[in-house]
Amino acid sequence: MSVHIRQVRSEDFDEILKINAESSPHVAKLDHEDVRRLTALASIALVATDSVRVVGYVLAISSSIVYEGEEFQSFLARFDEPFLYIDQVAVCAKARGASIASQMYASLQQRSRELGIFTLGCGVNLHPANPVSMGFHRKFGFESIGELETRDGQLVALLRKETLPVSSVFRAITKTNEQDLPRLFQVWESSVRATHAFLTEADIQSLIRLVKTELANCKPIYCLRGVDGRLFAFLGPRIASAKMLPIGVVASAEMLPAMAPATMAPPLPGRGYGDQDDTLGAGRTDQRCPATLHRCNRR
Ligand SMILES: CC(C)(COP(=O)(O)OP(=O)(O)OC[C@H]1O[C@@H](n2cnc3c(N)ncnc32)[C@H](O)[C@@H]1OP(=O)(O)O)[C@@H](O)C(=O)NCCC(=O)NCCS
Repeated sequence: MSVHIRQVRSEDFDEILKINAESSPHVAKLDHEDVRRLTALASIALVATDSVRVVGYVLAISSSIVYEGEEFQSFLARFDEPFLYIDQVAVCAKARGASIASQMYASLQQRSRELGIFTLGCGVNLHPANPVSMGFHRKFGFESIGELETRDGQLVALLRKETLPVSSVFRAITKTNEQDLPRLFQVWESSVRATHAFLTEADIQSLIRLVKTELANCKPIYCLRGVDGRLFAFLGPRIASAKMLPIGVVASAEMLPAMAPATMAPPLPGRGYGDQDDTLGAGRTDQRCPATLHRCNRR
């Protein structure tokens, strides 16, 4: 069943409460004030609608939010990296089994990446058991990382999913050539405009002249290409030393969320693509990169 997924609005609260009530005991029971508070806290709050009504909802809270939920706190203690905690997901009883939750999760995952968050966490009841939700989450790639006995006597499986689609986004690391120059420059400009808010337009214009010459003369430059072969990030040992940028890796603006763990998030050392530098330094270029990137992305 194809549904429309959109942000929750206050006029959805009554329908959310109806779905919540018929999903008990698998999701915590909410009242009107809970829904209002949770949707305000949630970094991602979505509903699925058919042509006339809300048929499902999902509420997810980012690890940067102060939230007292027991499962959330348990994930906070276990994960070093930013994560998105799925507090509630439910589909109205009549519409279950029609891929509505799957569509909501696809949208949630996409939005989570846009926020630069690549880990999802969720709790599924073991007692009382919720095999349907367990099947759903397993199908979606969640893995069990532990259990939690809650204060109200429930036993909950804590599930985690890493969403960075390394093998589908990144294809290869190669040296750049002459034909890459215009794209290198585009990537540089979009990255600088997206991150260097303190520069004036006049600053950027004067840098543009300098950077065009520098990029043309800087060798070697290594780049990361997407599945379509398009260059979206590059690194050159001499670029950083030429003080063109505060870091040696430049990612195009549209890829900044995906590159964030490597280039902009100090709490995640050793997990990003900037670390490919020593692989490159060893001269092993033009390798298929998913495996190496994947290894880099593991703790
Ligand atoms: C869990 C829930 C959200 C799933 O929503 P849904 O829209 O019915 O799920 P989907 O149709 O997208 O199902 C996707 C997959 O989940 C699994 N699944 C869904 N319903 C299932 C069922 N009744 N039995 C076994 N597996 C099931 C299947 O693997 C399915 O894939 P398939 O259709 O290719 O077999 C829904 O059942 C629900 O609202 N349950 C009550 C509230 C709840 O338990 N929330 C989760 C709390 S952790």
